[in-house]
Amino acid sequence: MNVEEKIKELQEHKTRIRKGGGDERIQAQHDKGKLTARERLDKLLDPGSFQEIGLLRKHRSVDLGMDKKEAPADGVVTGYGTIDGKLVYVYAQDFTVMGGSLGEVHASKISRLLDLAAKMGAPLIGLNDSGGARIQEGVDSLKGYGDIFYRNTIYSGVIPQLTAILGPCAGGAVYSPAIGDFIFMVKDRSYMFITGPEVVKEVLSEDVSFEELGGATIHGKKSGLAHFVSEDEEECIATIREVISYIPSNNLEGSPVVETGDDPMRSDAALNDVVPIDPQKPYDIKDVIEGVADNGEFLEVHELYARNIVVGFARMNGRTVGIVANQPKILAGCLDIDTSDKGAGFVRFCDAFNIPLVTFVDVPGYLPGTTQEHGGVIRHGAKLLYAYSEATVPKITIFVRKAYGGAYIGMCSKHLGADIIYALPSTEIAVMGPEGAANIIHRRELMEGGVEYLSEEYKERRKKKAEEYREKFATPYVAASRGYVDEVIPASDLRPKIIAALESCITKRETRPSKKHGNIPL
Ligand code: HXC
Repeated sequence: MNVEEKIKELQEHKTRIRKGGGDERIQAQHDKGKLTARERLDKLLDPGSFQEIGLLRKHRSVDLGMDKKEAPADGVVTGYGTIDGKLVYVYAQDFTVMGGSLGEVHASKISRLLDLAAKMGAPLIGLNDSGGARIQEGVDSLKGYGDIFYRNTIYSGVIPQLTAILGPCAGGAVYSPAIGDFIFMVKDRSYMFITGPEVVKEVLSEDVSFEELGGATIHGKKSGLAHFVSEDEEECIATIREVISYIPSNNLEGSPVVETGDDPMRSDAALNDVVPIDPQKPYDIKDVIEGVADNGEFLEVHELYARNIVVGFARMNGRTVGIVANQPKILAGCLDIDTSDKGAGFVRFCDAFNIPLVTFVDVPGYLPGTTQEHGGVIRHGAKLLYAYSEATVPKITIFVRKAYGGAYIGMCSKHLGADIIYALPSTEIAVMGPEGAANIIHRRELMEGGVEYLSEEYKERRKKKAEEYREKFATPYVAASRGYVDEVIPASDLRPKIIAALESCITKRETRPSKKHGNIPL
């Protein structure tokens, strides 16, 4: 064979492997409305940037007919490429090859990719579509999962780890995405569960569909497992690209800065009318966030989950910031179990990757009741306090309207290490709301003459006392006089003020006592 023939043979061999499970299975994949692994990578990466690693790798399993079974690339396409010029490592499980099932070689390809991504300091993106542990490879497959989980953990906080679930993801396989930073799911296409509907039926006699048990909507809204839920694969892949644009490639890089063209000094008089003076009146905190962010752009994370808190990425004078904000439109913006988990997770991601935090506070307190108490609101609520206290990135806090009690402390107050704190003039900062305070301080007086607690007459009497309290204590000025608020400003000035504060914090260095690791309440 001469050189040309050898090259031709190599190219034919590569072409055959790139066909994965072959035309019939590719058609079946398309018929399910799903793209193939390689089609997904084409959409995810900059054109022509993908460099494949391990195309020629093969399984060495012989049992259960595996000696006669070819599994091109062992069912997973691995390599690196760029997203808007930024290096990323990627794997895409190929469902057309043995259902994308994970055997020893498949797993070792992913582990190697994780090692490379960590060494080079680049994000790892997984596109999952797999029947789980390759049954024929038994314990070798389990070992493969273990190796991946170990690396997911060791590299957590070193490189961002993003996983899109674009098909099945069942059993222990769910834990690699779950250890990572962000999970992306697609409606009616992806599902994640520990045990599928058949097992649920057998063990619990419960009828539940794949979608109801572990579909994108359920994980987006209820379990909070999915950070992003998309209508289709194209939207999902576009969202991954967007997230990559906001985040640094590793823990040693600063928060990315891009040219956004928005004037950092832009003030906005319209913002003065967004937040109602009446503390009970709902409004959308996203109007405030979009009013201050560069070009009004805000990429919300966990949009469907625990909606009484809003978290996500924006840019201020071109630099990525992490936004955390109470949402008065939902449950009055109170804190509870899920908001604490959601907020703490996001704060810790930002802190791990040097993304400054901007917190907008409008919080009446913690949600009362047995469901919350018995569900562990104390343990979960502690996570948010812990995460904010632990974070050493620049922390800018804005008291927008009200902040009471423990929730005042918990939403990145000065006492948890906020660097610069602003308040709007109508902010109420106090131990509790005026009505609650009047109930406690003036109860005897309010019930005088046999008036029943919380009767109409009682509430009428309470109004006056609550008003007195509001005027005297429920303002930003007591906090400002103590130095717990650095400046009281009109909403129209929020953007230039926040940007000035952020710019002043760019060189922030904060050291903590050395330790192995803290013990965040879990
Ligand atoms: C080997 C598998 C496989 C697996 C699917 N295939 N799952 N091969 N090991 N785990 C193969 C099928 O034999 C078939 O091969 C091809 O992939 C496509 O599968 P279909 O069943 O035809 O596809 P579909 O009807 O779309 O159903 C997809 C599915 C189903 C729901 C995922 O295949 C399924 O239930 N698979 C088993 C899932 C499972 O129990 N996995 C183990 C989970 S426990 P051919 O040659 O016909 O194309 C686990 C433990 C991990 O993962 C522990 C980690 C700690």
